[in-house]
Amino acid sequence: MARILLGVSGGIAAYKALELVRLATAAGHSVRAVQTPTAQRFVGAASFAALTGAAVLVDEFEHDPARGAFPGQAPPGHDPIGHLELVRNADAYLVAPASANTLAKLAHGLADNLLTSAALAARCPLVVAPAMNDAMWDGPATRANVETLRARGVTVLEPGTGRLASEGEWGAGRLPEPAELLGAVEAVLCGPAAQGPERHLLGLHVLVTAGGTREPIDAVRYVGNRSSGRMGLALAAAAADRGSTVTCVAANVALERDPRVTYVDVQTAAQLHEACAAAFAAADVLLMAAAVADFRPAEPVPGKVKKAGRAALTVDMEPTVDVLGALAARRRPGQTLVGFAAEHGDGAVGRAREKREQKGVDAVVVNDVSRPGIGFDAAANEVTVVTADGERHVARADKAAVAEAVLEEVVRLRGTPVSPAAGGADATGGVGGVGGAP
Ligand code: CTP
Repeated sequence: MARILLGVSGGIAAYKALELVRLATAAGHSVRAVQTPTAQRFVGAASFAALTGAAVLVDEFEHDPARGAFPGQAPPGHDPIGHLELVRNADAYLVAPASANTLAKLAHGLADNLLTSAALAARCPLVVAPAMNDAMWDGPATRANVETLRARGVTVLEPGTGRLASEGEWGAGRLPEPAELLGAVEAVLCGPAAQGPERHLLGLHVLVTAGGTREPIDAVRYVGNRSSGRMGLALAAAAADRGSTVTCVAANVALERDPRVTYVDVQTAAQLHEACAAAFAAADVLLMAAAVADFRPAEPVPGKVKKAGRAALTVDMEPTVDVLGALAARRRPGQTLVGFAAEHGDGAVGRAREKREQKGVDAVVVNDVSRPGIGFDAAANEVTVVTADGERHVARADKAAVAEAVLEEVVRLRGTPVSPAAGGADATGGVGGVGGAP
């Protein structure tokens, strides 16, 4: 279990940091908290002290009764310099909430209070969870500060989108929920996300669809497809590995579930549409891997259709909603949308290129289902990821490796370069760049 130093700066979201402490200590971590003076106007030190079981420091010249030790740790024999000792003992330093002001100070290396001077001295991983009004979050100075910190290897979480503190305001700027904050810290400490640039999906919400829809003909029969859900579940697991919060809308998937993923089970295209519509606004990334019916029986029969007296059976079909197209039509800035296309035979990549533009998505992952051993219900896949600036061919590999390659493209599309060490050709056993994409 880890020693987590929590820096709380001034913002209404400071109340969520209390719940984070409760979750972290319940999970066995030991936590010390430092606050900025402004943070104390929102939540008092007594609450953090009670939940952490240790004194809360605000001022660098304050005496720390624990002499920089964390709960469960023996204090040193001398009286060390507070801000240095706290970060020396910490396995990770989480600043949550990070106000726009504190974010700016961290980016510029200011050390005008205990929180910022401890950050400057931190050799442990630094995780920063900004929370502010959306206008401040979108402001050019804040954007530049975030970029500066990320370029330095600091993990800056994406704030959530939703209701903001000011009456009637809605937008990006909410502090991620306490469980997500803890997940992000744990991922930095010990998950695959600790290994490097994959960290850039930390704290994001990823919505994945998996499986194949079934459209009822009558009470017992349906029109379906051969999708097993393997690719979608591999994508969900790969996103969770990278520290994302993952929701998977699963259409008729009978495979083992990943405990880190929240599943919404559906059967029909209409149910899948409803589930995706509900989760889409909060999603930063949509990976639309489900095989969704394009048509459904127009009038499903309530009972069972009997064969007696029939020479043939005709089922009238009507179109379903193009879920991906409908979601893309109401996408907001900052969302990354990836569609999937099962194409048959020559010209698959060209059709995927057209599909990407028609649907208004950032990428289409296409596979040629005419080739044996890949795609539907197979363990392996071989795909081409088509984006606006080129194509990337992913050679035949198991679906987990293909999922990794797709997520690398997502990271790239979101504007953060992935170094070769993060995966690429070596990690996926044969992912090669073709066309414009690295
Ligand atoms: N899709 C969707 N809603 C539908 C049908 C498909 O959201 N009703 C999504 C799939 O999940 C996939 C992408 O759209 O991400 C596939 O695009 P689409 O043009 O529908 O592909 P096909 O169904 O393969 O189309 P066609 O059969 O016409 O080639």
